[in-house]
Amino acid sequence: MSPTATKNISAPSEQLSVEHLLGIKELSTEDIELIFRTADGFKEVLNRPIKKVPSLRDITVANLFFESSTRTRVSFELAEKRLSADVVNFSSSGSSVSKGETLIDTVNNILAMKVDVVVMRHPDPGAALFLSRHVDARIINAGDGTHEHPTQALLDAYSIREKLGKVKGKKVLIVGDILHSRVALSNIFCLQKLGAEVMLCGPTTLMPKHIASLGVNVEHDLDKALRWCDVANMLRIQMERQGGDGIGNFPSLREYAMLYGLDLDRYTRIGKDVVIMHPGPINRGVEVTSQVADHANSIILEQVENGVAIRMAVLYLLSARIPRSPV
Ligand code: CP
Repeated sequence: MSPTATKNISAPSEQLSVEHLLGIKELSTEDIELIFRTADGFKEVLNRPIKKVPSLRDITVANLFFESSTRTRVSFELAEKRLSADVVNFSSSGSSVSKGETLIDTVNNILAMKVDVVVMRHPDPGAALFLSRHVDARIINAGDGTHEHPTQALLDAYSIREKLGKVKGKKVLIVGDILHSRVALSNIFCLQKLGAEVMLCGPTTLMPKHIASLGVNVEHDLDKALRWCDVANMLRIQMERQGGDGIGNFPSLREYAMLYGLDLDRYTRIGKDVVIMHPGPINRGVEVTSQVADHANSIILEQVENGVAIRMAVLYLLSARIPRSPV
C-alpha cells in the first residue's frame, strides 16, 4: 500500500505512537491522554439526538471473537457503527475453526475481503501480537487470554477520571482473581502510567508470585485494603480458567465471598465513599452483592457507557493512519 494518501476520514491533529493497540504496556502516557481527550469529544456525540458521525465511512472493521463476550463485542460494534464504519462480525463457534483452520488462515481469508481493522478476542496470550506481525491491518486487542485487555483498562481509568476529576494520586484497589485477569494487568499498567497508586487484594492462590515487582502493593486482608483505597475494582472470578470444577484455587465460592466479596455491611464499615467498579460480567453474591453493585457509589454502568466512547476514540485514532493508494 502507498503511504501517499489516507482513507477518507478527517485526520486528527495528533496521532498515537503505536499502529496497533496490543496492550497498555506499549502506550505512552501521552497516548492514553490523547485517547481520553478524543473520547471526551465522542461522548458528547453519543449524547446528541443523532449519535452518528461519518469519521470512518471508508473503513471496514472485522470483529473476530474466538472467546465469549457480551460487553466488549457489543461495545466495539456500536462504536464502529456510530463512526459509520462497515462492520463484519465473526465468532469461532459455528465457523471453520472447528474444522481445523488456523488463526492465520482464518484471518487472512477475512482480510482478502479488504478489511482495514481487526478487533480480536482470543483465549491465547500474545494472539493479537502474532496477528499484528502477520497481517496487513490495524489490530485491536479485545482481550488475549490472561495477558491484556487494553480497552477495558482505558475505560476503567476514564471512568475514574470522570467520577473523581483525575486519576493521578488516587488509590485504586483491585480485588480478586488477579492470577487469571487480563483486566488486572492492563489496569495496573494504565493506572500507574496516569500516576495512581495500585493495591491488589485476593487469596494467595489467585495472586501471581512476582506481581509486587510491578510496583503494586499486595494486601490479603480486604477490610484493611478497603480502608486504604479511593476506588475498589472488584474483579470477576474466572471460573473458566480455574481448572477442575471451576473453583480449583479456593475451597468454595461461599468462602471466597466471605473473605473477598463486598456486601453492604462490609462496604458501610469502610466509613467513606469508596467508588465501586466491576468490569463485568458480575457473579452477583460472589464478588459483590446486588446492594453493592446497584449502590449510589457504584459506577459499573458508567464503565459500560464510557466503553463505547473509548472504543470510538481508539478506532478513530488508529484508522486515521491507514495508508491507501490514490484512486
Ligand atoms: N468486561 C468484559 O470484557 O466483558 P465481556 O467478557 O462480556 O466482553
